[in-house]
Amino acid sequence: MVNATLNTIKKRRSITNFLSKSVNEKVLQDVLEAGRWAPSWLNKQPWKFIVVSDESIRLRASDIVPTVFSSTVRVAPVIIAICVNPDLNPYHYIEEGAAVTQNMALAAHSMGLGTIWIGTFSLADEKNSTERKLKDLLKIPKKWRLISLLPLGYPKFKGQKTRKELNEIVDWNYFVAREEKSSAQEIRQKDSIKKILTPTSTPPI
Ligand SMILES: Cc1cc2nc3c(=O)[nH]c(=O)nc-3n(C[C@H](O)[C@H](O)[C@H](O)COP(=O)(O)O)c2cc1C
Repeated sequence: MVNATLNTIKKRRSITNFLSKSVNEKVLQDVLEAGRWAPSWLNKQPWKFIVVSDESIRLRASDIVPTVFSSTVRVAPVIIAICVNPDLNPYHYIEEGAAVTQNMALAAHSMGLGTIWIGTFSLADEKNSTERKLKDLLKIPKKWRLISLLPLGYPKFKGQKTRKELNEIVDWNYFVAREEKSSAQEIRQKDSIKKILTPTSTPPI
């Protein structure tokens, strides 16, 4: 049987439309807790989460995000904005905001909620970027960065996306260019997976 964590990871899909059912405080708290427990460099925790529940702010945000997300942001009962402060960790603040976002998305899914990761971070932090406009709307200080918006609500449908097969993305011991990967190598690599999966070996944690 697949364990509960793996099941949550594999079953989570992006959700772009939500029921008009509100998200209760306890569930919201649990999603925020999942973000709080994300890893960070030297445990700096360089983040802040803004919970946007006010309808007028959500509507203004829906005019700023790329049009593909406008209706999602309009109908989501809650949006969480994940911000990070590069001064607290100049090396890894982007990954740390990403780890928070994924922790929250998984926690939300495990409780029957849906999310979609809206990537707001813009490399150059240009004046007219979506990030800059959202930062203005949410009163996020200039030096902070907005990594993502996570609309949160009860899904109106199930996502259908799949993934590449493991043998397309996993190499053993060294990087193998796809065009060089012979079928003999593929067989060797599949054998290595089998070895890891034998009951006598240490489980890959
Ligand atoms: C950093 C980031 C940015 C994303 N930006 C977009 C986007 O601009 N438009 C969109 O439709 N989905 C966006 N998504 C969601 C992806 O499309 C989605 O995760 C991917 O297609 C896999 O589908 P799934 O999440 O349902 O498994 C983004 C996801 C990430 C992690």
